[in-house]
Amino acid sequence: MPMKTDEYARPATPPDASSLTEVLAAASECTACHLYKRATQTVFGEGPRGAPIMLVGEQPGDYEDVAGKPFVGPAGKIMDRALEEARIDRSKVYVTNAVKHFKWEPRGKRRIHQKPNAREIAACRPWLEAELRLVKPKLVVVLGATAAQAIFGPSFRVTRERGKVLSSKFAPRVLATVHPSSLLRQPDEESRQREYKRFVADLRAAVKAAGDE
Ligand code: URA
Repeated sequence: MPMKTDEYARPATPPDASSLTEVLAAASECTACHLYKRATQTVFGEGPRGAPIMLVGEQPGDYEDVAGKPFVGPAGKIMDRALEEARIDRSKVYVTNAVKHFKWEPRGKRRIHQKPNAREIAACRPWLEAELRLVKPKLVVVLGATAAQAIFGPSFRVTRERGKVLSSKFAPRVLATVHPSSLLRQPDEESRQREYKRFVADLRAAVKAAGDE
């Protein structure tokens, strides 16, 4: 009988993959949803195995899609500043995204970011699960609604649960905060500063939670 295939077949995660490099190689061939067709490349997570903290964003943006690295564009720059202020060395944490291909629509010459939907998040989740299994962070920080929903499901609300240490079937300790790009969208300088400070406070809480057993 011919093998049943559909657009959302599970990606070819090596079931016994014991290294991030192996998982990354498999992820770079992923066609589990249609997003690979428009994206330049899979943007996998980066950082050391055994990192105490894993930061999970939404999906690569325009810059990340070209560079092949997570959080290197404007949102990454403000996140780096906040990490430094919270005394988190970016090279010692693992940084990744819930969805590993850039979802976008053309508008003239520009590529406009589109929010990934629940099916795309679910199709990509095995890669996040593989990263969690291999990195084994003490704490996962979910940045914004998409990452939070990848871990907790669609009814999760960051506004309600922000800053608390929670548990999910994918990771025993998870703290949710806003996405750093939301800091760039604040309407005025006062709210930008206020929201930035709250974000840094959440990162400080993450350091503390990662240190607690
Ligand atoms: N936004 C994200 O969620 N992830 C990135 O890597 C860049 C921007």
